[in-house]
Order: sequence, then structure tokens, then C-alpha cells
Amino acid sequence: MRLARPIVFGNWKMNGLRADGLALAGALAQRAVRLSGTLGIFPPFTILHAVAQRVCETGILVGGQDCHEKSFGAYTGSISAPMLVDAGAKAVILGHSERRHGLGETDALVRAKLLAARAAGLLVVLCVGETEEERLAGVHEERLWAQLDGSLPEGIGPEGLVVAYEPVWAIGTGRTPTSADIVATHAAVRRMLARRVVGGDAIPILYGGSVKPDNAAEIMACAGVDGVLVGGASLDAAAFWSIYQAGGGA
Ligand code: PGA
Repeated sequence: MRLARPIVFGNWKMNGLRADGLALAGALAQRAVRLSGTLGIFPPFTILHAVAQRVCETGILVGGQDCHEKSFGAYTGSISAPMLVDAGAKAVILGHSERRHGLGETDALVRAKLLAARAAGLLVVLCVGETEEERLAGVHEERLWAQLDGSLPEGIGPEGLVVAYEPVWAIGTGRTPTSADIVATHAAVRRMLARRVVGGDAIPILYGGSVKPDNAAEIMACAGVDGVLVGGASLDAAAFWSIYQAGGGA
């Protein structure tokens, strides 16, 4: 299945009590009558089912922000890929920097989760990104290759896979790379995917990190950017919708 462009995904992170989350989902559902692109929201697990029900008559995709690498068992506090599917999720974010850096998730763990998510039929949004030190040292491409190579299972196909390039230093900081840097890095990620995955040319590449209504058009006009992964600005329906429209979505 080819995802229609622009692809605009909103990661709510640890935000959204039931009332706020349902109001936000409802406000998006009102706008998303017939979508020309791909719009997705990733609420916290606690309201995923309710949000999925709220938007089920629209084309809005609902996903989880993480999943465990096993399907069932004695893993207290964890949520598995089949559980996400059961709650109405169609997608999952894996390898977000707040999990890699904040919780110490390794490429090997992300790879195991990715296999579990694909086995459950979830669309995977695999996040990769360099730190500021790596960017300043000019080793960001090596870092991205290491993350992609380590997180992608051997023999994986391009189906059901989206890659989000999210420089760690741009997440939640209000700072973004220049357009020239975004174009260059997306081209590098594109080459890496073509080298690592048979048919990897078909994998959409999103940019993430401080995408806002006022920079979304410029970012999504960059060559090689198929869409964006939005954090903070996805918590406001009008802002999130205007980002989607800035990418040509209707
Ligand atoms: P931000 O987060 O838009 O708040 O920078 C992006 C992300 O973490 O995906």
C-alpha cells in the first residue's frame, strides 16, 4: 500500500487525558472529511482505543508510541503489538529518541520490536537521528547508518515501513536544520535505505523535530521529504491541521 503524500503524523507523547484527547481527536475528525494525504495520530496507550473509535469514520490513522518485542507473557507494565492492534491501532512509532536516549533502548531492541510490530500487521514508523555532538563532529551520516543498519531486521521489505529522520537536537527545542541540511540528510538516508532494503526506494522518509505551522511549508518543500512527524504542535488541532495543509494536504 502506498501512503498518499503528505504523510503527517502527530506524536502526542505523554499528553492527553481522556477529555482533552477526545476533544483533540474530535476536532481533527471534523476537518478530516476526505483526506488527500495521510494523517496519523499517536495518543498514549490509555486512550488509544477511545481515540480510534472517535476517528473511525475518517481516514485518520491511529497508532501507539511503542510496543514490546514479545506478543504476550510475564512483562509487567508492557504493551504488545497484538494488544495495540486489538485496541484499534494501525501503526506504531519505534526507536524514538526519547526511548533510545531516555530509556536506553538499543538498536537490537528496536529491531526485535520492529519484527513484532510487522508480524502483527502494524505500520512501523522507525525513528533515527543524530545528537548535536555527532552533527558538529560531522559524523551524523555514520550514526544514521549505524541506527538504520542495527534497527532494520535482515531481509525486511519496504512494505509497512516509514522512516522518520529526527535530529535529537531539534526535538522540542524550536531549532531545525537548514533546508539544505534537511535535503542532504534525507538524500543520505534514501541512499542508505536503498542499500539496506531491497525495494528500499519505496520507504517514505519523514522529517521530525520542531515542526510548526510557520516552518512546515518550507520543510515539506525540501526534496526527499515525504512528510513530517510532529510532537508539540500536534497537541493543537488547528496547528496540526495547518501543518498538514502546508504540505499540500486537504
Ligand atoms: P517536537 O517533537 O515536534 O515537539 O520537536 C518531535 C518528535 O519528538 O517526534
